[in-house]
Amino acid sequence: MNDKDYQAILAKLTLDEKVCMCSGSTTWLTQPIKRDDVDIPAVRMSDGPVGLRREKMSGGVNIMQIPEPATCFPGAVTTASSWDEDLIEEVGHAIAVEAQSLGVSTVLGPGVNIKRSPLCGRNFEYFSEDPFLAGRMGAAWVHGVQKTNVGTSLKHYLANNQEYIRMCIDSIVDERTLREIYMPAFEHIVKTEHPTTVMCSYNRLNGTYLSDNKRFLTDVLRDEWGYKGIVVSDWGAVNNRAEGIKAGMDLEMPGGKGIGFNGNNIYNALENGTLTEEDIDKVVLRLIKFAYENKVREVDGVTYDVEEHNQIARRAAEGGAVLLKNDGALPLKANQSIAVIGKLAKKLRYQGGGSSHILPHKVTSFLDALDNAGQKYEYADGYTLKGEGYKKSLIKKAVKAAKGKDAVLLFIGLTDAFESEGYDRSHIKMPTSHVTLVNELLKVNKNVIVVLSCGSPVEIGEWDKGVKAILNVYLGGQAGGEATYNLLYGKVNPSGKLAETFPVCENDYLGSKYFRMGPRTVEYRESVYVGYRYYDSAKK
Ligand code: GLC
Repeated sequence: MNDKDYQAILAKLTLDEKVCMCSGSTTWLTQPIKRDDVDIPAVRMSDGPVGLRREKMSGGVNIMQIPEPATCFPGAVTTASSWDEDLIEEVGHAIAVEAQSLGVSTVLGPGVNIKRSPLCGRNFEYFSEDPFLAGRMGAAWVHGVQKTNVGTSLKHYLANNQEYIRMCIDSIVDERTLREIYMPAFEHIVKTEHPTTVMCSYNRLNGTYLSDNKRFLTDVLRDEWGYKGIVVSDWGAVNNRAEGIKAGMDLEMPGGKGIGFNGNNIYNALENGTLTEEDIDKVVLRLIKFAYENKVREVDGVTYDVEEHNQIARRAAEGGAVLLKNDGALPLKANQSIAVIGKLAKKLRYQGGGSSHILPHKVTSFLDALDNAGQKYEYADGYTLKGEGYKKSLIKKAVKAAKGKDAVLLFIGLTDAFESEGYDRSHIKMPTSHVTLVNELLKVNKNVIVVLSCGSPVEIGEWDKGVKAILNVYLGGQAGGEATYNLLYGKVNPSGKLAETFPVCENDYLGSKYFRMGPRTVEYRESVYVGYRYYDSAKK
C-alpha cells in the first residue's frame, strides 16, 4: 500500500467515520472502520517499557485490569547503567516477541524524559540526566522492538519531568535549555529510528498543552525533524480536541464508543468554522497509514521460550548493576559464613509502580538464588516494607544474626511507598530504618556489604564510609535476585556505570530548589545545569 492507496481510502470515508478515527475504540484499540468497500484495521497498543502489560480484558475504561503474564525486564534506570546498546536492543526485541505472541502491535515505550531532579517519582522508568545517553539508550530499545515488526511510542513528549500535578503543570523552559537538554533524546530517536508513534505528554510547555501544541507537534517534530509517524495522546491528556487536530495531535487515547470522549468538540469546531474537514483529513490520512502498517498482528503461533527470556532479563540486570564501592570485600567466597539482612532480599523490589507495572512469569529473589545455589546463610527481615519500616524487634534480630559472621549482606534502598508514577519524592533519603540498620550492624560486624535496591538516587553519604562495599542493583526485573547472586559471588563482573548523579546530600543540588513548584507553573531556572552539568560547574 502507498500514499495514493491511503488517499483513495480517505476519499471513501464519511465525516462521521473520520471523526471516529480521531480517537481509539477502547482503552487499547484504535478505531477500525469495516463496511462494504472499506476495511481499516484496528491497532492494539499496550504498555510498556519493562515488559508487556496486555490486559486480559480488551475493553472497558479502567486501564488497570489484570494483565497477562509476561517477562519483567529491568527498567530503563537499570539498563541505561549498562551503557550497552546491544543489550538494550536484545531486551526490546524480546518484549516485541512477547507483544506479537499476544497480538499487540504497538508497545508504549520507551520513556526518555530527562531526569531533571532525582525527586521525580517516575525516574525509574527513564534512562538518564544526560540527553546524549538517554537518546542512545532509548534508540536501542526502539530499534530492538521495531526490527521485530512491532511499533513503539516515544514518550512523554515534552518536558514532562515531574509527577506533581502532571495533568496541568506548565513547564516554563527557555529555548536553549529545551534544545540542549530536553529535546535532543527525542530528536535523536525520531531521526534515527523513526518510532511509529510519539506520545504527547499531559503537561503544558510555556503556556500551551502539548496535546494542542502546534509548535512542538508540527513545526518541530514534523517540519524540522521530518517525523512521518503519528502523535498519540497520553491516556487522558487531550485538552482541546479540535485545537489538537490543527496542532498535529492525531489520536486521542483512550477511546470510547463511536466518536469518542471529545468527538462533539470536533463537530462544534467544524460548525463555528475554527476547524475544517481538510484539517481532519490530514490527521485521518496519517491514521489510515498507521492502521495498515501497524494493524493488530493476531499473528497466530508466535511463541517464545519463557526461560530464555528470563535469562535475557538476568543478563540485563547484571549489566545494569553499578559497583559504587568495593574495598576488597567482594567477590564473596562460598565458604564464608554470611548473614542476609533486609526484607528486600526476600521480597525483591524488581519494578516500579504505575502504568509500567506488569505481572511477571516468575520472580527470583536473592534468597531464592542462594537456595538454588545451595549457599548457607542466616536471614533476618531487619525492617518492614511499610512507611519508614521501623520495628525495634526486627533490628535486634538482625544485629544478632550479624554477630560473628564473615560477611553481612544488607539489602536496603527504596520501597514502593517511596517512589512511583503519579507522585514525586519530597527528599532523597531511604526509610529511616534502613539507615539505623547500617549503623547498628556496623557496631557488631565491620564486614558489611550493602546491596542498594532503588529506582532513583538515595543519600548514602551518612554511611558509605563505614561499609566495605556497595552494589547498586537498582530495580533488576524478575531475575534480579539471581543477577545479584552472580555479581556478589563473582560469577559476573559488575561493570555498570551510573547514568545519573547520586547527590551526596539533596540540598547540594540546585535543581531541587526549583523542582515541582506549582500551583500552576514549574520554572526550569537551573537551565542547562542539570545533573553532572551542575555539579561540575559548581564544583560539588
Ligand atoms: C499513563 C502513562 C503512559 C502510559 C499510558 C497508558 O498515564 O503516562 O506512560 O503509557 O498512561 O497506560
